[in-house]
Amino acid sequence: MPAEASNTIEALLSRRSVPALLLREPGPSQQQIDASIDAALRAPDHGGLKPWRFVLIRGAARTRLSQLFVRRLQQREPATPPGKLEKARTMPLSAPLVIAVGARLRQDHKVPELEQLLSTGAGVMNLLNAFHAQGFGAIWLTGGNAYDPEIAQALGFDAAERCLGFVYVGSKSPPASSPPSRPERAAFVRDWSG
Ligand SMILES: Cc1cc2nc3c(=O)[nH]c(=O)nc-3n(C[C@H](O)[C@H](O)[C@H](O)COP(=O)(O)O)c2cc1C
Repeated sequence: MPAEASNTIEALLSRRSVPALLLREPGPSQQQIDASIDAALRAPDHGGLKPWRFVLIRGAARTRLSQLFVRRLQQREPATPPGKLEKARTMPLSAPLVIAVGARLRQDHKVPELEQLLSTGAGVMNLLNAFHAQGFGAIWLTGGNAYDPEIAQALGFDAAERCLGFVYVGSKSPPASSPPSRPERAAFVRDWSG
């Protein structure tokens, strides 16, 4: 295998999600963020609809996101235990970069919405791999706050856009010590011979 291909496969196989609370400064530079977003924009895209949207949340904006997460969680679930509230408060503060991911869904188009969502998901996968290839940890998380219409609106998503969650990005602390475990390949693959 050519060295370039082997490095790419190695990067794909070694990616693992890093819990948001283990992400630290420094975050990626603007150039590293741009490279990752460009990788996301190379996802396959039926109909060329470019459904993906990325909202970068960094610096003091993370404090406002943290406050929004806590306020909405309290409003949706008034009996939320303090530990869960504290997790919602801390997560956006721990990672230096949070990316809210949205999909702009065209209902009037022959390409089904499902495919537009798949294309956005493929973009997020490229985003995660690009951050990993540049040495950063990242994780894609959803949960109640990701699907909360008030939070989506506050982030600037309009009625045609659906929030698909948050990608948390930062330096890994501590660095991963062992390779990620992966499912047994044979359980998911079979030949079809007609
Ligand atoms: C669309 C999507 C949403 C996810 N949402 C959550 C979540 O809210 N909470 C969580 O613990 N993991 C969530 N995950 C799983 C993590 O992102 C991650 O894949 C998982 O922890 C396994 O780690 P790995 O990527 O290293 O295999 C989500 C994954 C996807 C694809």
